[in-house]
Amino acid sequence: MAREDTYAADPEDALEMTRIMEQDQLVTKGMGGTFPEGDIPDDIQHILDVGCGSGGWVLDVAYRYPECEVVGLDVSEPLLAYARARANVQQRQNVCFVHGNVLSDLNFAEGEFDLVNIRFATAFLFRDAWVPVLKKLYHILRPGGIIRVTEIDTMGLTNSLAVETLLSYVYQTLGKMGYGFSPNFHSMGMTPVLKGLFTAAGFEQVKLFPWAIDFSCGTELHQKQYENYIATFDTLQPLALKAGLTTEEEFQDLLNQMHVDMVQENFQGVWHILTARGIKPQSSPSS
Ligand SMILES: C[S@@+](CC[C@H](N)C(=O)[O-])C[C@H]1O[C@@H](n2cnc3c(N)ncnc32)[C@H](O)[C@@H]1O
Repeated sequence: MAREDTYAADPEDALEMTRIMEQDQLVTKGMGGTFPEGDIPDDIQHILDVGCGSGGWVLDVAYRYPECEVVGLDVSEPLLAYARARANVQQRQNVCFVHGNVLSDLNFAEGEFDLVNIRFATAFLFRDAWVPVLKKLYHILRPGGIIRVTEIDTMGLTNSLAVETLLSYVYQTLGKMGYGFSPNFHSMGMTPVLKGLFTAAGFEQVKLFPWAIDFSCGTELHQKQYENYIATFDTLQPLALKAGLTTEEEFQDLLNQMHVDMVQENFQGVWHILTARGIKPQSSPSS
């Protein structure tokens, strides 16, 4: 069956599903929680997470704010089934996971949500889709509601030449496919444009919150990022070869070197992440 989304990876592939589950834990922990910028206001009751993946963020928010109703939307049925199973095991009553494609019509009413969250949409929204999607989310937010987007320029910066070269293939491949905003594909180029994208969609009072996740050798999150890289590069290889960026032999050599470098005591890496928050104005001409 033809895919209904524009995700660079296949969200129903077992390796990618596992990567999404592991990355969720890595990022929430590394950022310091679901809202590390500070508690949400008391009048936030109805929350939507777009591209919720394995549901980790939704479940964590629902646990921390039991008075809130938290909805997770995703295009992948297997990931939704996993998220629902987790909700059942945790006996979490205030969550709901729904199937939907944010590029198509959304089955939500105008002004239905107090807060809409998206984390890591860089690889499933083509650059031209960002403003139309943000406008759609503007529509389903109530006046005064919060849009909250967490994005990245890189998958980490490291002192390993092999890792940096492999990561550069990620940005070049995705950039050429139409993702991100980097003019030269040296990164995903997301953080410089988030504020402008919010403004173009009608949001105001945009605030930016930067985070840094240390995944150097010896840190708690080192192993998870190592596994994240292994899965990412496995998915990347055919795409990078197709794009003519590398050869099978060079790619394998880089992977071998990555395995050597990442277990060295002096391996160092930091992942910079940015959360942008904006508000839908109280009186909005185009809601
Ligand atoms: C990189 S994962 C991020 C998951 C989660 N937000 C997180 O940060 O852990 C991207 C997710 O978006 C979903 N997705 C891709 N295209 C989508 C679309 N058009 N509409 C809704 N979800 C989509 C994928 O199935 C996947 O679960």
